[in-house]
Amino acid sequence: MTDFATVCAAYSAHSLSARGRLRHDLVARRLLAELPGRPARVLDVGCGDGEMTLRLGAAGHHVTGADPSAEMLAAAARRLASRPDLAPRIRMLEAGVDSLPFERERFDAVCCHGVLMYLDDTAGAIARLAGLVARGGVLSVLTKNRAAIGFREALRGEYRAARGLIEQGAAASVGNLGIETRGDTAESLDALAAEHGLVPLPWQGVRIFHDHHEDWAPDPEEYAQALRTEWAASTRDPYRRLGRLVHTLARHEPGRRMP
Ligand SMILES: C[S@@+](CC[C@H](N)C(=O)[O-])C[C@H]1O[C@@H](n2cnc3c(N)ncnc32)[C@H](O)[C@@H]1O
Repeated sequence: MTDFATVCAAYSAHSLSARGRLRHDLVARRLLAELPGRPARVLDVGCGDGEMTLRLGAAGHHVTGADPSAEMLAAAARRLASRPDLAPRIRMLEAGVDSLPFERERFDAVCCHGVLMYLDDTAGAIARLAGLVARGGVLSVLTKNRAAIGFREALRGEYRAARGLIEQGAAASVGNLGIETRGDTAESLDALAAEHGLVPLPWQGVRIFHDHHEDWAPDPEEYAQALRTEWAASTRDPYRRLGRLVHTLARHEPGRRMP
């Protein structure tokens, strides 16, 4: 199990880099488009240093950020302290997927971004998260794309590692924090959501063309062009299949009863 106390600073640095920002911008754009116009109730599970929690709060939604790491929560609290205007709409709690304290409370969006790759049991996590989605709400999952494992290494010229991963059809590879992380496919995530009564929405590939650029430092115009290009490719085959991450969404349709 990854010790997030030790990688907290490294994660925050990655998150603030151009590559990190690219994924937050792509995911936030899609998520905000799926949320209702009114203030929604959002649960951000594994919220880390609070990037998406704060973005959704800034967009007017009521967000609960949950994370089992006290260090990550402290980093989120420091960021929240600089935005006191958001405090009435944001609550933070120390809990993981397995220890979420909600008996009756349900959410218009349940997010789990950048977390499943560190856990062993995708199916169990999706079952718990799906059960917290209110009617009409969405489950939003962002995780490592198993189908593209080895692509980053190949583009970086790390051919021996890339070939090994590709030939094995590897399920895991070393991620941004230097830790081996697991991948899932969009299809398997959609199938799990459907098992729990949710209706999958079109999925997106995230960070397709810029994932291997570790030190990418574009100027604002280049960044804007890159973002537009990534967005265009994110919904289209074959490009989306090569994204480092997959963003899957599934809706609890209003008339539908959960199994
Ligand atoms: C890579 S960070 C992602 C943070 C944030 N969601 C984002 O997308 O920027 C992974 C987070 O998952 C959290 N985490 C680890 N195990 C977890 C679990 N069992 N349930 C929920 N979150 C977990 C870690 O503490 C860490 O904050």
